[in-house]
Amino acid sequence: MGVREEVAAQAARLERDGRLGQCRGFIQHGDVSVYDHVASVAEQSCRMADALARLGLRVDRDSLVRGALLHDYFLYDWHDPDPSHRLHGFRHPFFALANAERDFDLTPRERNVIVRHMFPLVPVPPTCREAWIVCVADKACALRETIAPRVAVLAGRCARGRRLRPERGGRR
Ligand SMILES: [Fe+2]
Ligand SMILES: [Fe+2]
Repeated sequence: MGVREEVAAQAARLERDGRLGQCRGFIQHGDVSVYDHVASVAEQSCRMADALARLGLRVDRDSLVRGALLHDYFLYDWHDPDPSHRLHGFRHPFFALANAERDFDLTPRERNVIVRHMFPLVPVPPTCREAWIVCVADKACALRETIAPRVAVLAGRCARGRRLRPERGGRR
């Protein structure tokens, strides 16, 4: 089973037993839903864990994937200017943990993954390997999700610019 199928299978279970499906309706970055974001973070985390396994460093795979899928389980639209969403960046790991505790039986590693993923913005570091992996994978995915659309716009502009500027004749 590949990483994508592994994550999809865990996500389907969390969707069946809890409220992960609601994350399809909330936007995380650009036009990426929270659901697609957490799936990307889980897949990236698995790839990082596979690389570490080649160095002999093992992780609790289920806690890694489930924690990654639940790390942004805050279940609201953080773009909505409701006062309860103030300081979203600092507070959402705690909202995510409270929601996940309500819906699932979490392992201590899953709790650590969820509540520590915003380090260093929330200045309490992860305390297990799984939480460090998700913390790093989350930053990488967030960067890709926010930068990629801008790069596409820039690339489009460059391509249009080239079309508008005819090649100069003459020898090079
Ligand atoms: Fe987050
Ligand atoms: Fe995230």
